[in-house]
Amino acid sequence: MSKLALLGGTPVSATDLARPWPSFDERERQGLLAVLESRAWGGYPEPSPVAARFAEAFARHHSATAGVCATNGSVTLEVALMALGIEAGDEVIVPTYTWIATGVAPIHMNAVPVFVDVLPGTWCMDPDQVEAAITPKTKGIITVHLGSQAADLDRLTAIAEKHGLFLIEDCAHAHGGAWRDRGLGSWGDFGSFSFQVSKLMTAGEGGIVITSKPELEARAHWIVNCGRKETAYSGFSGNLLGVNARMTEFQATILEAQLARLADDTAHREASVAYLESALRDIGGLVPLARDERQTTRHAYQLLMRYDAEQFAGVHRNRVLAALAAEGVDLDGAFYVPMHEHELMWAQTRHWPQLRERYGDGIKSPVAKKSLDFPVTSRAAYHEAVWMHYPYLMGSTGDLDRIVEAVAKVKQHAADLL
Ligand SMILES: Cc1ncc(COP(=O)(O)O)c(C=O)c1O
Repeated sequence: MSKLALLGGTPVSATDLARPWPSFDERERQGLLAVLESRAWGGYPEPSPVAARFAEAFARHHSATAGVCATNGSVTLEVALMALGIEAGDEVIVPTYTWIATGVAPIHMNAVPVFVDVLPGTWCMDPDQVEAAITPKTKGIITVHLGSQAADLDRLTAIAEKHGLFLIEDCAHAHGGAWRDRGLGSWGDFGSFSFQVSKLMTAGEGGIVITSKPELEARAHWIVNCGRKETAYSGFSGNLLGVNARMTEFQATILEAQLARLADDTAHREASVAYLESALRDIGGLVPLARDERQTTRHAYQLLMRYDAEQFAGVHRNRVLAALAAEGVDLDGAFYVPMHEHELMWAQTRHWPQLRERYGDGIKSPVAKKSLDFPVTSRAAYHEAVWMHYPYLMGSTGDLDRIVEAVAKVKQHAADLL
Protein backbone atom coordinates (compact mmCIF):
# COMPACT_ATOMS: atom_id res chain seq x y z
CA MET A 1 0.00 0.00 0.00
CA SER A 2 1.16 3.56 -0.75
CA LYS A 3 2.38 5.69 2.15
CA LEU A 4 0.24 8.58 0.87
CA ALA A 5 -2.78 9.39 3.05
CA LEU A 6 -4.92 9.82 -0.08
CA LEU A 7 -4.24 6.18 -0.91
CA GLY A 8 -4.76 4.80 2.58
CA GLY A 9 -1.47 5.71 4.33
CA THR A 10 -1.04 7.66 7.58
CA PRO A 11 -1.28 11.46 7.14
CA VAL A 12 1.53 13.82 8.19
CA SER A 13 -1.08 15.56 10.32
CA ALA A 14 -4.41 14.10 11.42
CA THR A 15 -5.82 17.64 11.59
CA ASP A 16 -5.58 20.48 9.09
CA LEU A 17 -2.44 22.54 9.75
CA ALA A 18 -4.20 25.90 9.17
CA ARG A 19 -4.74 28.07 12.26
CA PRO A 20 -8.38 28.86 13.13
CA TRP A 21 -9.54 32.07 11.49
CA PRO A 22 -10.67 34.77 11.58
CA SER A 23 -8.87 35.46 14.84
CA PHE A 24 -10.29 37.73 17.56
CA ASP A 25 -9.72 38.54 21.20
CA GLU A 26 -11.04 40.69 24.00
CA ARG A 27 -10.67 43.85 21.86
CA GLU A 28 -13.33 42.73 19.36
CA ARG A 29 -15.56 41.53 22.22
CA GLN A 30 -15.33 44.82 24.14
CA GLY A 31 -15.74 46.92 20.99
CA LEU A 32 -18.89 45.06 19.96
CA LEU A 33 -20.39 45.43 23.42
CA ALA A 34 -19.62 49.16 23.49
CA VAL A 35 -21.33 49.71 20.13
CA LEU A 36 -24.30 47.60 21.21
CA GLU A 37 -24.79 49.58 24.39
CA SER A 38 -24.30 52.94 22.63
CA ARG A 39 -27.38 52.22 20.48
CA ALA A 40 -25.52 53.99 17.65
CA TRP A 41 -25.30 50.99 15.36
CA GLY A 42 -25.63 52.45 11.89
CA GLY A 43 -23.41 54.34 9.47
CA TYR A 44 -25.56 57.47 9.35
CA PRO A 45 -24.80 60.35 9.66
CA GLU A 46 -21.83 59.44 7.49
CA PRO A 47 -19.10 58.96 8.55
CA SER A 48 -20.23 57.55 11.88
CA PRO A 49 -17.72 57.99 14.74
CA VAL A 50 -16.08 54.55 14.93
CA ALA A 51 -15.99 54.18 11.14
CA ALA A 52 -14.40 57.64 10.83
CA ARG A 53 -11.74 56.81 13.42
CA PHE A 54 -11.01 53.45 11.82
CA ALA A 55 -10.88 54.91 8.29
CA GLU A 56 -8.32 57.51 9.25
CA ALA A 57 -6.11 55.00 11.07
CA PHE A 58 -6.35 52.45 8.23
CA ALA A 59 -5.48 55.08 5.62
CA ARG A 60 -2.51 56.26 7.69
CA HIS A 61 -1.30 52.68 8.10
CA HIS A 62 -1.18 52.50 4.29
CA SER A 63 0.48 55.92 3.76
CA ALA A 64 -2.69 57.70 2.56
CA THR A 65 -4.45 60.62 4.22
CA ALA A 66 -8.10 59.54 4.11
CA GLY A 67 -10.36 56.51 3.99
CA VAL A 68 -14.05 56.03 3.26
CA CYS A 69 -15.67 52.86 4.61
CA ALA A 70 -18.26 50.91 2.63
CA THR A 71 -20.23 47.69 2.58
CA ASN A 72 -17.71 45.50 0.73
CA GLY A 73 -14.72 45.44 -1.61
CA SER A 74 -16.82 45.07 -4.77
CA VAL A 75 -18.80 48.23 -4.09
CA THR A 76 -15.62 50.13 -3.20
CA LEU A 77 -14.35 49.57 -6.76
CA GLU A 78 -17.59 51.04 -8.08
CA VAL A 79 -17.37 53.95 -5.64
CA ALA A 80 -13.83 54.66 -6.84
CA LEU A 81 -14.88 54.57 -10.51
CA MET A 82 -17.85 56.87 -9.87
CA ALA A 83 -15.74 59.29 -7.86
CA LEU A 84 -13.24 59.39 -10.71
CA GLY A 85 -16.00 60.45 -13.10
CA ILE A 86 -16.36 57.30 -15.22
CA GLU A 87 -18.81 57.75 -18.11
CA ALA A 88 -20.78 55.36 -20.32
CA GLY A 89 -18.57 53.62 -22.88
CA ASP A 90 -15.27 54.49 -21.18
CA GLU A 91 -12.69 51.70 -21.18
CA VAL A 92 -10.93 50.46 -18.06
CA ILE A 93 -7.96 48.11 -18.35
CA VAL A 94 -8.00 45.18 -15.90
CA PRO A 95 -5.91 42.02 -15.43
CA THR A 96 -7.79 38.83 -16.26
CA TYR A 97 -6.20 36.80 -13.43
CA THR A 98 -8.29 38.03 -10.49
CA TRP A 99 -11.69 37.78 -8.86
CA ILE A 100 -14.56 38.86 -11.16
CA ALA A 101 -15.33 42.00 -9.10
CA THR A 102 -12.33 43.76 -10.68
CA GLY A 103 -13.99 43.48 -14.10
CA VAL A 104 -17.64 43.61 -13.03
CA ALA A 105 -17.23 47.04 -11.39
CA PRO A 106 -16.61 48.86 -14.71
CA ILE A 107 -19.53 46.97 -16.31
CA HIS A 108 -21.89 48.10 -13.54
CA MET A 109 -20.74 51.67 -14.26
CA ASN A 110 -21.68 51.29 -17.96
CA ALA A 111 -18.00 51.17 -18.86
CA VAL A 112 -16.06 48.44 -20.69
CA PRO A 113 -13.41 46.25 -19.02
CA VAL A 114 -10.47 45.59 -21.33
CA PHE A 115 -8.63 42.47 -20.21
CA VAL A 116 -4.85 42.05 -20.28
CA ASP A 117 -2.59 39.16 -19.34
CA VAL A 118 -0.28 38.98 -16.32
CA LEU A 119 3.48 38.62 -15.96
CA PRO A 120 4.86 35.09 -15.50
CA GLY A 121 7.00 36.18 -12.52
CA THR A 122 4.25 37.77 -10.40
CA TRP A 123 0.90 36.87 -12.00
CA CYS A 124 0.09 40.57 -11.70
CA MET A 125 -0.87 42.84 -14.62
CA ASP A 126 1.72 43.10 -17.44
CA PRO A 127 2.51 46.83 -17.92
CA ASP A 128 3.55 46.35 -21.59
CA GLN A 129 0.14 44.85 -22.33
CA VAL A 130 -1.54 47.70 -20.47
CA GLU A 131 0.22 50.21 -22.68
CA ALA A 132 -0.67 48.24 -25.82
CA ALA A 133 -4.36 48.14 -24.78
CA ILE A 134 -4.76 51.93 -24.50
CA THR A 135 -7.24 53.46 -26.97
CA PRO A 136 -8.80 56.95 -27.20
CA LYS A 137 -11.63 55.56 -25.00
CA THR A 138 -9.37 54.41 -22.16
CA LYS A 139 -10.01 56.28 -18.92
CA GLY A 140 -8.11 54.24 -16.39
CA ILE A 141 -6.48 51.12 -15.06
CA ILE A 142 -7.46 48.83 -12.19
CA THR A 143 -4.49 46.79 -11.07
CA VAL A 144 -4.56 43.94 -8.54
CA HIS A 145 -1.88 43.03 -6.01
CA LEU A 146 -2.44 39.31 -6.24
CA GLY A 147 -2.06 36.85 -3.37
CA SER A 148 1.40 37.64 -2.05
CA GLN A 149 2.69 39.71 -4.98
CA ALA A 150 2.60 43.42 -5.84
CA ALA A 151 1.94 44.75 -9.33
CA ASP A 152 4.76 46.86 -10.82
CA LEU A 153 3.70 50.23 -9.45
CA ASP A 154 6.71 52.05 -10.90
CA ARG A 155 5.61 51.18 -14.43
CA LEU A 156 1.87 51.46 -13.86
CA THR A 157 1.99 54.89 -12.21
CA ALA A 158 4.26 56.12 -15.03
CA ILE A 159 1.89 54.76 -17.71
CA ALA A 160 -1.13 56.31 -15.99
CA GLU A 161 0.61 59.67 -15.76
CA LYS A 162 1.91 59.62 -19.34
CA HIS A 163 -1.53 58.87 -20.80
CA GLY A 164 -3.64 60.91 -18.37
CA LEU A 165 -5.39 57.82 -16.94
CA PHE A 166 -6.59 57.11 -13.44
CA LEU A 167 -5.09 54.22 -11.49
CA ILE A 168 -7.07 52.21 -8.93
CA GLU A 169 -5.20 49.61 -6.88
CA ASP A 170 -7.45 46.67 -6.04
CA CYS A 171 -5.94 45.78 -2.67
CA ALA A 172 -8.50 43.15 -1.65
CA HIS A 173 -5.53 40.82 -0.91
CA ALA A 174 -3.01 43.42 0.18
CA HIS A 175 -3.72 44.77 3.68
CA GLY A 176 -0.45 45.90 5.24
CA GLY A 177 1.66 45.44 2.08
CA ALA A 178 4.18 48.03 0.88
CA TRP A 179 6.05 49.00 -2.28
CA ARG A 180 9.28 50.97 -1.75
CA ASP A 181 8.26 51.33 1.92
CA ARG A 182 5.00 53.07 1.01
CA GLY A 183 1.66 51.39 1.59
CA LEU A 184 -0.05 49.51 -1.21
CA GLY A 185 -3.21 51.42 -2.04
CA SER A 186 -1.54 54.81 -1.70
CA TRP A 187 0.13 54.80 -5.14
CA GLY A 188 -2.96 55.11 -7.29
CA ASP A 189 -5.78 57.65 -7.13
CA PHE A 190 -7.60 55.16 -4.92
CA GLY A 191 -6.72 51.95 -3.10
CA SER A 192 -9.73 49.64 -2.68
CA PHE A 193 -9.76 47.02 0.10
CA SER A 194 -12.14 44.20 1.02
CA PHE A 195 -12.95 43.00 4.55
CA GLN A 196 -14.84 39.91 3.38
CA VAL A 197 -14.45 36.89 5.63
CA SER A 198 -11.47 35.25 3.89
CA LYS A 199 -9.39 38.43 3.93
CA LEU A 200 -6.42 39.48 6.09
CA MET A 201 -8.69 41.78 8.09
CA THR A 202 -12.38 41.03 8.24
CA ALA A 203 -15.68 42.07 9.73
CA GLY A 204 -17.47 39.27 7.89
CA GLU A 205 -18.08 41.77 5.09
CA GLY A 206 -16.89 45.32 4.51
CA GLY A 207 -14.62 47.48 2.40
CA ILE A 208 -12.77 50.78 2.26
CA VAL A 209 -11.25 53.13 -0.31
CA ILE A 210 -8.20 55.14 0.64
CA THR A 211 -6.86 58.23 -1.13
CA SER A 212 -4.72 61.31 -0.51
CA LYS A 213 -6.78 63.57 -2.78
CA PRO A 214 -9.37 65.61 -0.79
CA GLU A 215 -11.77 66.00 -3.73
CA LEU A 216 -11.80 62.24 -4.33
CA GLU A 217 -12.32 61.63 -0.61
CA ALA A 218 -15.29 64.00 -0.60
CA ARG A 219 -16.80 62.39 -3.67
CA ALA A 220 -16.45 58.90 -2.18
CA HIS A 221 -18.26 60.10 0.96
CA TRP A 222 -21.16 61.52 -1.09
CA ILE A 223 -21.47 58.35 -3.12
CA VAL A 224 -21.64 55.90 -0.19
CA ASN A 225 -24.14 58.19 1.53
CA CYS A 226 -26.88 58.25 -1.15
CA GLY A 227 -25.29 61.33 -2.75
CA ARG A 228 -25.79 63.44 0.39
CA LYS A 229 -23.24 66.10 1.21
CA GLU A 230 -22.69 66.21 4.95
CA THR A 231 -20.99 69.36 6.23
CA ALA A 232 -17.77 67.45 6.86
CA TYR A 233 -17.22 67.06 3.11
CA SER A 234 -19.50 69.56 1.41
CA GLY A 235 -16.78 71.95 0.23
CA PHE A 236 -16.76 70.86 -3.42
CA SER A 237 -19.09 71.85 -6.20
CA GLY A 238 -21.38 69.51 -8.09
CA ASN A 239 -23.67 66.64 -7.17
CA LEU A 240 -23.51 62.91 -7.67
CA LEU A 241 -26.03 60.08 -7.89
CA GLY A 242 -25.09 57.96 -4.90
CA VAL A 243 -26.17 54.78 -3.17
CA ASN A 244 -26.38 53.57 0.43
CA ALA A 245 -23.08 51.73 0.89
CA ARG A 246 -22.39 52.76 4.47
CA MET A 247 -20.59 50.50 6.94
CA THR A 248 -22.15 49.72 10.34
CA GLU A 249 -20.43 50.60 13.61
CA PHE A 250 -20.32 46.88 14.49
CA GLN A 251 -18.11 46.26 11.47
CA ALA A 252 -15.98 49.32 12.17
CA THR A 253 -15.22 48.36 15.77
CA ILE A 254 -14.16 44.83 14.76
CA LEU A 255 -11.90 46.32 12.09
CA GLU A 256 -10.30 48.71 14.58
CA ALA A 257 -9.32 45.72 16.69
CA GLN A 258 -8.00 43.88 13.66
CA LEU A 259 -5.98 46.87 12.49
CA ALA A 260 -4.23 46.94 15.86
CA ARG A 261 -2.93 43.41 15.11
CA LEU A 262 -2.14 43.92 11.42
CA ALA A 263 1.56 44.91 11.67
CA ASP A 264 2.42 41.99 13.99
CA ASP A 265 0.43 39.53 11.90
CA THR A 266 2.10 40.77 8.71
CA ALA A 267 5.55 40.34 10.28
CA HIS A 268 4.60 36.81 11.39
CA ARG A 269 3.50 35.91 7.86
CA GLU A 270 6.61 37.42 6.31
CA ALA A 271 8.80 35.29 8.58
CA SER A 272 6.74 32.19 7.70
CA VAL A 273 7.06 32.93 3.98
CA ALA A 274 10.84 33.32 4.27
CA TYR A 275 11.08 30.01 6.15
CA LEU A 276 8.88 28.14 3.68
CA GLU A 277 10.64 29.68 0.68
CA SER A 278 13.98 28.31 1.68
CA ALA A 279 12.68 24.87 2.69
CA LEU A 280 10.49 24.40 -0.38
CA ARG A 281 13.21 25.54 -2.74
CA ASP A 282 15.39 22.72 -1.37
CA ILE A 283 12.66 20.20 -2.18
CA GLY A 284 11.78 21.68 -5.59
CA GLY A 285 8.65 21.40 -7.71
CA LEU A 286 6.42 23.63 -5.57
CA VAL A 287 8.17 26.95 -5.00
CA PRO A 288 6.86 30.38 -3.91
CA LEU A 289 7.00 33.13 -6.54
CA ALA A 290 10.03 35.35 -5.98
CA ARG A 291 9.52 38.69 -4.26
CA ASP A 292 10.34 41.80 -6.28
CA GLU A 293 12.82 43.63 -4.04
CA ARG A 294 10.78 46.83 -4.46
CA GLN A 295 7.96 45.05 -2.62
CA THR A 296 9.25 45.95 0.82
CA THR A 297 6.42 44.36 2.82
CA ARG A 298 4.79 41.21 1.55
CA HIS A 299 1.13 40.95 2.54
CA ALA A 300 0.74 37.19 1.82
CA TYR A 301 -3.04 36.89 1.90
CA GLN A 302 -2.36 33.79 -0.14
CA LEU A 303 1.22 32.69 -0.72
CA LEU A 304 1.46 32.15 -4.49
CA MET A 305 3.54 29.16 -5.54
CA ARG A 306 4.42 27.64 -8.90
CA TYR A 307 3.88 23.91 -9.43
CA ASP A 308 6.12 21.99 -11.81
CA ALA A 309 4.45 18.71 -12.78
CA GLU A 310 7.70 17.30 -14.17
CA GLN A 311 9.15 17.24 -10.68
CA PHE A 312 6.10 15.31 -9.44
CA ALA A 313 6.31 12.40 -11.90
CA GLY A 314 4.14 14.28 -14.43
CA VAL A 315 1.08 14.22 -12.13
CA HIS A 316 -1.43 17.06 -12.65
CA ARG A 317 -1.42 19.80 -10.01
CA ASN A 318 -4.96 19.07 -8.85
CA ARG A 319 -4.18 15.43 -8.05
CA VAL A 320 -1.11 16.45 -6.05
CA LEU A 321 -3.19 19.04 -4.17
CA ALA A 322 -5.73 16.35 -3.29
CA ALA A 323 -2.87 14.25 -1.92
CA LEU A 324 -1.55 17.21 0.11
CA ALA A 325 -5.02 17.91 1.53
CA ALA A 326 -5.17 14.32 2.76
CA GLU A 327 -1.84 14.92 4.54
CA GLY A 328 -3.33 17.98 6.34
CA VAL A 329 -2.36 20.81 3.97
CA ASP A 330 -5.36 22.01 1.96
CA LEU A 331 -4.05 24.28 -0.83
CA ASP A 332 -5.97 25.71 -3.77
CA GLY A 333 -5.21 25.41 -7.49
CA ALA A 334 -8.08 26.88 -9.47
CA PHE A 335 -8.65 29.61 -6.88
CA TYR A 336 -9.17 31.91 -9.84
CA VAL A 337 -9.86 31.01 -13.44
CA PRO A 338 -9.34 33.64 -16.15
CA MET A 339 -12.01 36.18 -15.25
CA HIS A 340 -13.66 36.23 -18.67
CA GLU A 341 -14.13 32.43 -18.41
CA HIS A 342 -15.63 32.48 -14.91
CA GLU A 343 -19.08 30.88 -14.66
CA LEU A 344 -20.35 34.01 -12.88
CA MET A 345 -19.09 36.43 -15.54
CA TRP A 346 -22.56 36.68 -17.00
CA ALA A 347 -22.02 40.00 -18.79
CA GLN A 348 -24.43 40.21 -21.68
CA THR A 349 -24.92 43.05 -24.10
CA ARG A 350 -28.71 42.98 -23.70
CA HIS A 351 -28.12 44.20 -20.14
CA TRP A 352 -24.96 46.21 -20.76
CA PRO A 353 -25.11 47.65 -24.29
CA GLN A 354 -21.73 49.35 -23.95
CA LEU A 355 -20.14 45.90 -24.40
CA ARG A 356 -21.38 45.38 -27.99
CA GLU A 357 -18.57 47.06 -29.89
CA ARG A 358 -15.82 45.03 -28.24
CA TYR A 359 -17.57 41.82 -27.17
CA GLY A 360 -20.55 41.25 -29.50
CA ASP A 361 -23.41 39.69 -27.51
CA GLY A 362 -21.38 39.61 -24.33
CA ILE A 363 -18.12 38.61 -22.70
CA LYS A 364 -18.84 34.89 -23.19
CA SER A 365 -19.95 35.27 -26.83
CA PRO A 366 -18.06 33.56 -29.68
CA VAL A 367 -16.95 37.02 -30.93
CA ALA A 368 -15.45 37.85 -27.54
CA LYS A 369 -13.80 34.44 -27.24
CA LYS A 370 -11.74 35.03 -30.37
CA SER A 371 -10.06 38.10 -28.90
CA LEU A 372 -9.64 36.83 -25.34
CA ASP A 373 -6.56 34.66 -25.18
CA PHE A 374 -4.21 35.08 -22.22
CA PRO A 375 -1.66 32.25 -22.10
CA VAL A 376 0.13 33.23 -18.89
CA THR A 377 -3.14 33.44 -16.96
CA SER A 378 -4.44 30.19 -18.46
CA ARG A 379 -1.25 28.31 -17.60
CA ALA A 380 -1.32 29.63 -14.03
CA ALA A 381 -5.03 29.03 -13.50
CA TYR A 382 -5.25 25.55 -14.95
CA HIS A 383 -1.76 24.07 -14.37
CA GLU A 384 0.83 26.01 -12.39
CA ALA A 385 -0.62 28.17 -9.63
CA VAL A 386 -0.92 26.95 -6.06
CA TRP A 387 -2.47 29.24 -3.44
CA MET A 388 -1.69 28.84 0.26
CA HIS A 389 -4.21 30.75 2.39
CA TYR A 390 -2.77 32.86 5.23
CA PRO A 391 -4.00 30.66 8.15
CA TYR A 392 -1.18 28.24 7.15
CA LEU A 393 1.30 31.10 7.64
CA MET A 394 0.11 32.05 11.13
CA GLY A 395 1.32 28.95 12.97
CA SER A 396 4.60 27.92 14.65
CA THR A 397 7.84 26.80 12.99
CA GLY A 398 6.75 23.28 13.95
CA ASP A 399 3.58 23.73 11.85
CA LEU A 400 5.65 24.97 8.91
CA ASP A 401 7.98 21.98 9.22
CA ARG A 402 5.00 19.65 8.88
CA ILE A 403 3.79 21.50 5.78
CA VAL A 404 7.26 21.04 4.27
CA GLU A 405 7.24 17.38 5.35
CA ALA A 406 3.89 16.87 3.59
CA VAL A 407 5.20 18.39 0.35
CA ALA A 408 8.37 16.29 0.50
CA LYS A 409 6.35 13.13 1.18
CA VAL A 410 3.91 13.71 -1.70
CA LYS A 411 6.80 14.50 -4.03
CA GLN A 412 8.66 11.35 -3.02
CA HIS A 413 5.62 9.15 -3.68
CA ALA A 414 4.13 11.16 -6.57
CA ALA A 415 4.33 8.23 -8.99
CA ASP A 416 1.74 6.41 -6.84
CA LEU A 417 -0.76 9.09 -7.92
CA LEU A 418 -0.51 8.25 -11.61
C1 LIG B 1 -9.16 40.89 -6.06
C2 LIG B 1 -10.51 41.12 -5.43
N1 LIG B 1 -11.18 42.25 -5.72
C3 LIG B 1 -12.38 42.53 -5.18
C4 LIG B 1 -12.97 41.65 -4.30
C5 LIG B 1 -14.34 41.96 -3.79
O1 LIG B 1 -14.41 42.07 -2.42
P1 LIG B 1 -15.76 41.71 -1.62
O2 LIG B 1 -15.84 40.24 -1.50
O3 LIG B 1 -15.56 42.39 -0.29
O4 LIG B 1 -16.90 42.30 -2.37
C6 LIG B 1 -12.32 40.47 -3.97
C7 LIG B 1 -12.94 39.51 -3.03
O5 LIG B 1 -12.73 38.34 -3.02
C8 LIG B 1 -11.06 40.19 -4.55
O6 LIG B 1 -10.40 39.06 -4.25
